[in-house]
Amino acid sequence: MRKSSSNSPGGSLKKAERFSSSGFILAAIGSSVGLGNMWKFPYITGEHGGAAFFLLFIVCLIAVGLPVLLAEMTIGRGGRGNAATSLFNLTGNKYWKWFGALSVLTAFLIMSYYAVVAGWTFQYTLDSLTGGLSHKGMDYEAHFNDFAGGLMPIFWQAAVMLISGYVVARGISGGIEKFNKILIPGFLIILLILMVRSLTLPGASAGVEFFLKPDFAKLDSESVLVALGHAFFSLSLGMGCMLTYGSYVKKEQSLGKATIAIGIGDLGYAFIAGLIIFPTVFSYGLQPDKGVGLAFMALPAAFSQMPFGAFFGGLFFILLAIAALTSAVSILEVPVAFAMTQWKWSRRKAAAIVASVCFVLGIPAALSVTGSLSGFLIFGKTVFDWFDFSTAYLLMPIGGLVVTLFTGYAWKRAGEEAGLTGFWYKAWMVTLRYVAPLLILVVLLYSLFVKPV
Ligand code: PHE
Repeated sequence: MRKSSSNSPGGSLKKAERFSSSGFILAAIGSSVGLGNMWKFPYITGEHGGAAFFLLFIVCLIAVGLPVLLAEMTIGRGGRGNAATSLFNLTGNKYWKWFGALSVLTAFLIMSYYAVVAGWTFQYTLDSLTGGLSHKGMDYEAHFNDFAGGLMPIFWQAAVMLISGYVVARGISGGIEKFNKILIPGFLIILLILMVRSLTLPGASAGVEFFLKPDFAKLDSESVLVALGHAFFSLSLGMGCMLTYGSYVKKEQSLGKATIAIGIGDLGYAFIAGLIIFPTVFSYGLQPDKGVGLAFMALPAAFSQMPFGAFFGGLFFILLAIAALTSAVSILEVPVAFAMTQWKWSRRKAAAIVASVCFVLGIPAALSVTGSLSGFLIFGKTVFDWFDFSTAYLLMPIGGLVVTLFTGYAWKRAGEEAGLTGFWYKAWMVTLRYVAPLLILVVLLYSLFVKPV
């Protein structure tokens, strides 16, 4: 490690890899639009007062999420290193590097279990298209439990790792950028087809009402924390992802405009996802369930009753699979970029090794959902739940704090790199110095000591 820092301070990238301007926006939207948008956002919106929560989410996104997003990308482009070395490159302080390194660990852990869920969507795509999910009187809960408890999830998890590893190994412009340029427009087309289908179902309005009817009485202090926590997760913040992508952005590109485009993209996709999910579920008299239950149980049940349901159900799971894959490559890129600069591994070697280790780490997570390890509890949580809890509620907020404090206090030239002056610079700094750290701290403490939001 010493050796590498003496050749290039903090180990910046030797051969400059760069995104094109539009490639970067698409890749960043691909990262932010993931499984979180496709079912968590619609559900929490319905649960916390519909349009009232939607407004609150927009406020959190604009007031805290976007400033932190801009900070992450700015550190990456200014430091031109990985999630750890960029912080060192900008200040020469090795403690910041170690704080940054924490987010590499976070990404590593997220990748291990995110790939498991992504793998489920592959199986459900196949099953939908081949009619395997539309038997009469099918028990969707039992079906999911059987599937998740078997060995197929490990096979699909391997497939996700192989695909993401391959894309990342191909590099920034030839791999990640190309992948997103193909998938994201396709994603939008499928999304719109499904939206039209679901909004024209009989009784669709009940679903729209559940999702969007403003009910300010349902808003409470917890809603604020939920909205804030989700703004972070949804924008892929706090784990070095946008920082790493930022390190491949050209100097000429406006990071301010990119921030707005990514924010609109993330919000727009989540909104349309809600307009697909709830009208479909309500139209068939089903109840919107949480997380796994909604996507893998309630929705297949609804599609099985719909004319051409195999086709529409297949499209829906293809959508989930794309959302998951474009996020997975961005997560994998964080430890891969780290290994490349830290240990001077080639991109291909780093991608192969990191993906393999994540695969092995993800096996206990895959087996602990309903499989052989589901009874193995550590402090009342399964291995899968631990991966989720420790990253979303602990490591990601800490990563977010590191970014805000670093940009707000430690690095003096952030405004210049971000292209902000005057009012916008001041507002950005107030957010990064006071508002965001305070709110993140509240979310962190609440999740740890009261209940995970
Ligand atoms: N933003 C993604 C989602 O909404 C999840 C994610 C988190 C992706 C962190 C990358 C990094 O599902």
